[in-house]
Amino acid sequence: MVHRPRRLRKNPVVREMVAETRLSKDMFIYPYFIVPGKNVIHPLEAMPGISHFSEDTLLSDVEKGLKLGVNKIMLFGVGDEKSEDAASAYHDHSLVPSAVRLLKKNFGDDLYIVTDVCVCSYTTHGHCGILKDDYVQNDPTVEVIAKMGLTHAQAGADMLAPSDMMDGRIAAMRQLLDGQGFVNTAIMSHATKFASAYYGPFREAADCAPSKGDRKAYQMDFRNGNEALREALLDESEGADVLMVKPALAYLDVMHNLKQHTDLPIACYNVSGEYSMVKAAAQRGWIDEQKVVMETMHAFARAGASIITTYHIRDMVEKNWL
Ligand code: PBG
Ligand code: ZN
Repeated sequence: MVHRPRRLRKNPVVREMVAETRLSKDMFIYPYFIVPGKNVIHPLEAMPGISHFSEDTLLSDVEKGLKLGVNKIMLFGVGDEKSEDAASAYHDHSLVPSAVRLLKKNFGDDLYIVTDVCVCSYTTHGHCGILKDDYVQNDPTVEVIAKMGLTHAQAGADMLAPSDMMDGRIAAMRQLLDGQGFVNTAIMSHATKFASAYYGPFREAADCAPSKGDRKAYQMDFRNGNEALREALLDESEGADVLMVKPALAYLDVMHNLKQHTDLPIACYNVSGEYSMVKAAAQRGWIDEQKVVMETMHAFARAGASIITTYHIRDMVEKNWL
C-alpha cells in the first residue's frame, strides 16, 4: 500500500502538527443587546446565557469579557422609540451611540466596537427599511442607513455592520463617512444575508419581527449560491472592508465559494437559531456542547471565515475551550 493517511493521525502530537485549521481568540466578535434603563440584566429565554443589558450592566459585562480576551463586540439597540421613518435610529442620544461613547470613554482602543446598522428595531412595522405600500423602499432606506452609520461613527464606533440588504448601501455609507472625515471607520457588510428561519430567537432578542409579511423582498433566497457571490462582490466594489456571510452553518459553501473570489477578510455570523439549537440539545444531554461548538467553529474557519461572530465565544473563553 503506497498511501496510508492514517500515519499522520497516529498520536496527538502528529495530529497537532498537521492540523490545517487553528482558531484564536482574535477571530471572534461577541454580540450584545442594549436596552433602556439602569441595572437591567434580563436573560433571554430562547438564548440561554445571553441577556439584555442596560448601559451600566453592559459596561461591567464588557469589562469581564475584556479580561478574558473578548475585545471585539457587536452592539444591537433594542427598545428605542419606534416610528414609521425610524428617526430614532440616527439620533445621537439613542441607545447604541450613547453606549458606544460610554464604552469608548472607559476602554478606548482596548475594545473594538462593531455596531449593527439596521432600522428594524426602530420601525413600528419591524421591517429593515422605510415601508410604502407594503414594500421596503430601497433608496430612501439607504439614506437612513447611511445617516445611522454616521451617528455610530461620530460616537466612536470602529466598524459598522449594515445588516439591511438594501442595494447600494455600502457605497452610500462610505461616501457619507468619508465626506465627514471618518475615513478610518471600517464597514463589515452583511454582504450575503439570507432570509432565514435561523433568526428566530433573535427576533425576540431584538424585538424586530415584521408585524406583517417577511423579509424575502430584501434578504436573499437560500436556494441561490451564484447570486450570493454576486451580492458579495458588489459590496466589495462599493468599498466594504469585510464581507460577511449570514447565517453560517447552513452556508459553508457560500463562504468557501466567496473565499475563491475575494482577497478581503471573510466573516460569518453564527446566528441565534444555530446557537439555541446547540444550547437546547446540550441542556438535554443529547450532545457534548464543547465538542459540537469547537467542531462548528473549525468548520467556519475551514470554509474560509477568518472572523466569527458568535454568542458562544464567552463560554469558549470562560471554560478554556480554545
Ligand atoms: C435584523 C437582524 C437579524 C439578525 C441580525 N440583524 C434578524 C433578521 O434579519 O430578521 C439575526 C441575528 C441572529 O439571529 O443572531 N437586521
Ligand atoms: Zn433589520
